[in-house]
Amino acid sequence: MTRAAADRGHRFGGAWTEVKLDAVHYYLRFFTRVLKDQPTPHQPFELWYIDAFAGSGSRRIDRTTGGLFEGEPLGEETVDLAGSVLRALDVDPPFKRLVFIEENRDRFRCLEEIAAAYPERNITPFRGDTNTKLQEIFGAPPWSLQHDGRGSHRAIVFLDPFGMSVKWETLKQLAETGAVDVWYLFPTGAVNRQLAGNFAKVDEHKQRALDEVFGSTAWREDIYKVKTDRGLFDEVITTASKTFTVDQIERYAQDRLKMIFAYVSDPLPLLNDRDSKIFSLFCLSNSPSQKALGLIRNGVRSVLKKFAGR
Ligand SMILES: C[S@@+](CC[C@H](N)C(=O)[O-])C[C@H]1O[C@@H](n2cnc3c(N)ncnc32)[C@H](O)[C@@H]1O
Repeated sequence: MTRAAADRGHRFGGAWTEVKLDAVHYYLRFFTRVLKDQPTPHQPFELWYIDAFAGSGSRRIDRTTGGLFEGEPLGEETVDLAGSVLRALDVDPPFKRLVFIEENRDRFRCLEEIAAAYPERNITPFRGDTNTKLQEIFGAPPWSLQHDGRGSHRAIVFLDPFGMSVKWETLKQLAETGAVDVWYLFPTGAVNRQLAGNFAKVDEHKQRALDEVFGSTAWREDIYKVKTDRGLFDEVITTASKTFTVDQIERYAQDRLKMIFAYVSDPLPLLNDRDSKIFSLFCLSNSPSQKALGLIRNGVRSVLKKFAGR
């Protein structure tokens, strides 16, 4: 825990956050182990980890201590748990390079402190907007040379936003490399909230945000059903009503992602304490290699078996 982080503490998420982080961490360990000697033991791929919504490195929570079974009086303690960044640093075999992107100034400072604390780990923290930074990173060498899965680099990109911040163009650019596995925390709950029961209540700002998330304007016709009635004075009244449940929105997102990625996993659903689905964690890959896709499928199958329903 860095001093800056200790001062400020980054509080977010809930019990489901640990499931998400455990699942991604499990896959990271699988990824570096499986690719350690690929394509050849003499010249293995250079493996990067890109944490595109990096946070501060840790997550602060308050938890209850003691109780009947511990034989101690009830109390409360504040603890800092490892976030995605610290967990990625712990993966062995290690990533060759780690890139952390964060727009918040204080959290970015924590990331700079982490980079300074591990000078041998080749960490680059970037401050700024994820979509812009990813487009810069993947628009320049070595990533601009990795088209269609050729080249000597492979990466995992973790997209862990609070809400609807990931632009479709960014996902397309990642897909075009054919060389990165993406773990995308799709904001199913936030999307469901923006999709009001009556389309007239989805203002232009929300419509644009939904266009960005789905990469298309077709959701208007796909999700809403238009009905025409006659009013009191025989005037025509047209209403467009939402026809999708949260589960259908999740499937719709999966189908949209399949338009640009060769492989889209089944989602790992993340539920809040009231059992509402708030996020759906997908693994995405556009590798042109069937062998690589087979390995990814195996890795994700283990992740889902271990963490779905937890
Ligand atoms: C859910 S938190 C990430 C938590 C982190 N992965 C962890 O496990 O500790 C989302 C983070 O993304 C940052 N963020 C939100 N929108 C962003 C954007 N457009 N560009 C860069 N960072 C952003 C927020 O400041 C926040 O720290």
